[in-house]
Amino acid sequence: MSTIKQVKAREILDSRGNPTLEVEITLNSNIRGWAAVPSGASTGKHEAIELRDKDNARLDGLGVLKAVANVNREIAPALIGMTITDQTAIDNRLLELDGTTNKSRLGANAILGASLATAHAAANLLQMPLYRYLGKVDSYTMPVPMLNILNGGRHAAGSTDFQEFMVMPAGARDFHHALQISAEVYHCLKRVLNERKLNTNIGDEGGFAPQLASNRQAVELILIAIEQAGYKPGKDCFIALDPAASEFYQDGKYIMAREGVSLSPQEMVDYYASWASDYPIISIEDGMAEDDWDGWQLMMKKLGDKIQIVGDDLYVTNIDRLNKGIRLGASNAILIKPNQIGTLTETIAVIQRAKQAGWNTVVSHRSGETRDTTIADLAVGQGTGQIKSGAPCRSERTAKYNRLLQIEDELGKQACFAEMSVFRNLKK
Ligand code: PGA
Ligand code: ZN
Repeated sequence: MSTIKQVKAREILDSRGNPTLEVEITLNSNIRGWAAVPSGASTGKHEAIELRDKDNARLDGLGVLKAVANVNREIAPALIGMTITDQTAIDNRLLELDGTTNKSRLGANAILGASLATAHAAANLLQMPLYRYLGKVDSYTMPVPMLNILNGGRHAAGSTDFQEFMVMPAGARDFHHALQISAEVYHCLKRVLNERKLNTNIGDEGGFAPQLASNRQAVELILIAIEQAGYKPGKDCFIALDPAASEFYQDGKYIMAREGVSLSPQEMVDYYASWASDYPIISIEDGMAEDDWDGWQLMMKKLGDKIQIVGDDLYVTNIDRLNKGIRLGASNAILIKPNQIGTLTETIAVIQRAKQAGWNTVVSHRSGETRDTTIADLAVGQGTGQIKSGAPCRSERTAKYNRLLQIEDELGKQACFAEMSVFRNLKK
């Protein structure tokens, strides 16, 4: 078996122009594995720690030279000589070496870069596509994409209170068709905005970021775009939301500044319930704030059998928080972001635990991204059924969707598209 000869990190820039890091692992056979680490803007407060230099003399203090040095000087000597195909042993070694519960010493960014590059090197060594290495199964499910075509909140200054308005082409025949529908709707939305003299500049995740009067207006414009593209809302294409409610939660209230309202948790749930009856909404992520467990339970009681209720900042891909959510019945789905927890092994454990509880899983990008496409392979390998990677626009977003096109082609008849079956738990 091939062992690790070299581990090398360097500081690079992400899609927002902020520094992040990439890691390259070289094996004694000279086979390599490469990965780059994404970065969030509306980060959950319970996420593993992304180590930044805080040296204001460079890159606004956001540099990652300390994390890079941690890879080159501490992680590299600890991993050199280890068997590349033993991902669990390598990830455990990284955890031990860090020694903290939130990866604050070495940095979750440093650790994740090494962890993901390990999987790539192992797959390359075995001459296997990464999704096969991560799955080791006979049949593969292509995920239904969730595409953020209208950006607000922290991803687009001056836009809506809600962060993400997404389309889910769950009625498509296959992944290729799903992406085609999404791109057609995206371009129709641009026309719809233009006709109304609304701004068509784009936000961090490639979706449009117009200045709108309300959250409702965003949904209504998207519904027009779906119809103009020739599709039926609620049949071919659904709406999914990520309000990212932690961002507008304060002292027990949900305060939406642009809407000019301040709602109690129960009123916030009622707000979503009226939306769910007015619009073809299939999924709401982070509808409630990251520590408002009671609010999440209220939401599940009211809407849990009608729509997918996804925890992102609530769980931060952390098994302990997920177990709490399962115990409380706080949602019926979880967002999976490898950099929220910091190793591939822990990420996969969370996916498997959620599936075991009968929950849906959605693998996700971050608002700050790179050309790394690991999440596409993870979604197929682990059969998550859903993926969220922003708009069908901007290379760091389309890189993931385009990788899925490649995988679908490669799999041929072995691929099946998840389509509406991912929502089998819902009664709508
Ligand atoms: P972030 O947002 O990557 O900026 O944290 C994405 C999300 O909330 O899903
Ligand atoms: Zn989110």
